[in-house]
Amino acid sequence: MTQATVDTGVITKAVELACHAPSLHNSQPWRWSAGSTAVDLFLDPHRLVTAADSSGREAVISCGALLDHFQVAMAAAGWNAAVDQFPNPNDLDHLASIDFAPMDYVTQPRRDRAEAILLRRTDRRPFRAPNEWASLESVLGSSFENDGIELAVLADEARPRLAEASRLTEALRRYDDSYHHELAWWTAPSRESEGIPESALASGSAARAVAVNRRFPADWHSERSSASRPDQARIVVLSTPGDTRADALDCGRALSAVLLECTLAGLATCPVTHLTEIAASRAIVGDLTGSPAVPQVLIRVGVAPSGEVPPPTPRRPLRDVLEFHR
Ligand SMILES: Cc1cc2nc3c(=O)[nH]c(=O)nc-3n(C[C@H](O)[C@H](O)[C@H](O)COP(=O)(O)O)c2cc1C
Repeated sequence: MTQATVDTGVITKAVELACHAPSLHNSQPWRWSAGSTAVDLFLDPHRLVTAADSSGREAVISCGALLDHFQVAMAAAGWNAAVDQFPNPNDLDHLASIDFAPMDYVTQPRRDRAEAILLRRTDRRPFRAPNEWASLESVLGSSFENDGIELAVLADEARPRLAEASRLTEALRRYDDSYHHELAWWTAPSRESEGIPESALASGSAARAVAVNRRFPADWHSERSSASRPDQARIVVLSTPGDTRADALDCGRALSAVLLECTLAGLATCPVTHLTEIAASRAIVGDLTGSPAVPQVLIRVGVAPSGEVPPPTPRRPLRDVLEFHR
């Protein structure tokens, strides 16, 4: 245990920045409990997206992304954050306990990484293929420390089968009323600090040009753009050795690292998970990676189309997610 005391202002700022992490439908299923020497992260079981994510797997992935964002934010403030995952075997919603040690100096790359948190957003428009992919691919592979996580880049030839798996997922869910009701709820205009605003959804032909993503209610009726070229994004898959809560948390931490690395490289990203929510399509993704590991998240990576970058999505007020104890 390091047990160094950290100013509450530093912790508050780092938590606030970390909360810009991506989460399924922007559900932000997390809660922080902070003291001056340690911070605890909990899954908030009241914020699960149950029809899409009945086991809470993607909620834990979201919390993993938050956890990595928090470490990035603390590092930029000069603190090394040591993470103890699942410190209480009787409470698996207690995802991590984190304590701190001062760093000797803060390098510019660490500050850049923290700045990338505010630049990153989920971009659902069709992308152009990224340039100089080979060098980025090796950087992405080493952007996270966990050797158990596999990062696979799907070949262009995999695209038609993946698009087919995406259609299969939608078809299998066509009459799943609770799934569609839930999606409509999380994308309703009345959501203020949670959910996906209309401005963050690609519309009309832009959405239809992306064969590999979840279909949102807005995809079919609104039309903000003229005919779009088919998506040329690279598709990266993160897979884990098993399908436990620890696997999901590890995967979320790696997801954050990959997204921030892509953002630093000036590329747009979009996590895609509907394919992992249905056993049949998950099996196809696994087959395409050529690995026995369990696919958790796909990430579209590419060059964003010119024009307006989608505005940032809102977050819950800090007082709703962070409490300090003595
Ligand atoms: C576990 C997870 C699953 C996600 N699945 C999808 C998805 O299938 N399709 C999609 O367009 N976005 C997906 N997202 C992106 C979220 O909708 C997005 O992070 C959230 O709305 C917040 O917006 P932001 O990423 O722009 O900050 C996912 C994010 C996470 C962390």
